[in-house]
Amino acid sequence: MKILLFGKNGQVGWELQRSLAPLGEIVALDFDAQNLCGDFTNPEGLAQTIRTVAPDVIVNAAAHTAVDKAESEPDLVRTINAQAPAVLAREAQSINALLVHYSTDYVFDGQGEKPWVETDATAPLNVYGATKLEGEQLIRQSGCKHLVFRTSWVYAARGGNFAKTMLRLAAERDSLSVIDDQIGAPTGADLLADITAHTIRATKMQPELSGLYHLVAGGATSWHGYASFVLDIARRNGLPLKAAADSIKAVPSSDFRTAAKRPLNSRLDCSRLKKTFDLNLPDWQVGVDRMLTEILEKLA
Ligand SMILES: NC(=O)c1ccc[n+]([C@@H]2O[C@H](COP(=O)([O-])OP(=O)(O)OC[C@H]3O[C@@H](n4cnc5c(N)ncnc54)[C@H](OP(=O)(O)O)[C@@H]3O)[C@@H](O)[C@H]2O)c1
Repeated sequence: MKILLFGKNGQVGWELQRSLAPLGEIVALDFDAQNLCGDFTNPEGLAQTIRTVAPDVIVNAAAHTAVDKAESEPDLVRTINAQAPAVLAREAQSINALLVHYSTDYVFDGQGEKPWVETDATAPLNVYGATKLEGEQLIRQSGCKHLVFRTSWVYAARGGNFAKTMLRLAAERDSLSVIDDQIGAPTGADLLADITAHTIRATKMQPELSGLYHLVAGGATSWHGYASFVLDIARRNGLPLKAAADSIKAVPSSDFRTAAKRPLNSRLDCSRLKKTFDLNLPDWQVGVDRMLTEILEKLA
């Protein structure tokens, strides 16, 4: 199997380089690749890359993910998150390749408390969410075989992440204020990459599995719950923190002014994915605990 991976250096792209390796030959590109175009501001350049590589599977881990910045550059965001994926879909359809793409809980307006299912009505609150929704719709309309995964609150051990920021702030400050009215599931890029590999294999054998799936770790929490979990583990591991457990203040989203509005209810129901592919999604604490072990070992 020949796999063309775009966005190889992002959180998910990096993990996909590992998880897809056993499936076959990988051609992995980022936006400034030398001989082949991997730049999502140049959709027709991406088409040329696909024609040259002629892959069996195209995996798109590239996206404009700066949610607040997106509000001030909607045309660029739309090119990267919607128009370029549409060109990938067109090319995938013409060579009968499977296209794998990631979308987001931000396609929903965040009302209520029920976990969203794939068929629920979408109503994005910000430019990022609207362009990601357009991207997934254009892929589905293209008629190509596809796996589109809506996920949320992605973290990776490599690079910066929310847990590392909380560890740094709790070491510097006596108290922290963390949002407690947005609810979702912190989801590891490693889990997304592993599930992607399993589902590619299954869909190559059974193309009728093609479709849209929700994919997040099990359980749910708030950013405050997430921060408290991270700092409890750090304390148990003897990391010196200025902020005591009872000084992590729970505050509403309205306390933080951001350019982009965010949904309060980011819960995603993954029953369809689990049933279709016979897979288990471990609780979010399992992956966060593992990532912290790696971080804390490096700090020790
Ligand atoms: N992060 C989350 O919490 C989250 C939540 C829900 C869904 N998702 C979705 O999951 C997927 C993977 O996200 P991620 O967390 O891995 O994001 P990420 O770490 O920001 O990775 C995105 C990658 O795309 C690259 N990129 C940006 N502009 C590009 C361009 N013009 N051409 C080519 N590449 C470009 C980025 O490069 P630079 O870093 O150099 O800009 C980065 O390597 C995306 O589809 C995202 O929308 C993410």
